[in-house]
Amino acid sequence: MIRIGFGFDTHKLDPVCEFWLGGILIPHIKGATGHSDADTLIHAIIDALLGAAGLRDIGNQFPDTSPEFKGIDSKALLSRTMELISAKGYVIGNIDSTIVLQNPKISGHIPGMIEALTAVMKIGSDQLSIKAKTSEKLGFIGREEGISAYATVLLLKE
Ligand code: CDP
Ligand code: ZN
Repeated sequence: MIRIGFGFDTHKLDPVCEFWLGGILIPHIKGATGHSDADTLIHAIIDALLGAAGLRDIGNQFPDTSPEFKGIDSKALLSRTMELISAKGYVIGNIDSTIVLQNPKISGHIPGMIEALTAVMKIGSDQLSIKAKTSEKLGFIGREEGISAYATVLLLKE
């Protein structure tokens, strides 16, 4: 059986925050704000995985009202998501994702993100694609007020 999943996430960018993205720390004058470490790409990937497995969404599995998840490393949430999908008998076929961010340019950080996230998900580097786009200076992303990410995933089950 194959199942498709789709995930989306957005976070506000704030000068006082660290910028965690794709499981690594990006050097920048601003970072993403949120209850956890606000890793927008990981959150989009988690929602895609949960959606494909019929396990609702990140807020349902890891409530942002829970002190357990305050400031948590999103890689820990991704690891728990992998346990949830494995328990249902699924393995990852592949993941494709896009980060929409005006600044900074992150293409040089993408190999590091792939290394970090494939290690957590225990998949090969050819199973995870991460792309980057600006929003051509339009809207909240163009004004550097926020970041979005999109992910699709294919899950396989014998
Ligand atoms: O050329 P096009 O309008 O499709 O894309 P763009 O938004 O201008 O981005 C051009 C290229 O810059 C992308 O293909 C990415 O490789 C890179 N990029 C990046 O490294 N970091 C970003 N925050 C946005 C884009
Ligand atoms: Zn998020």
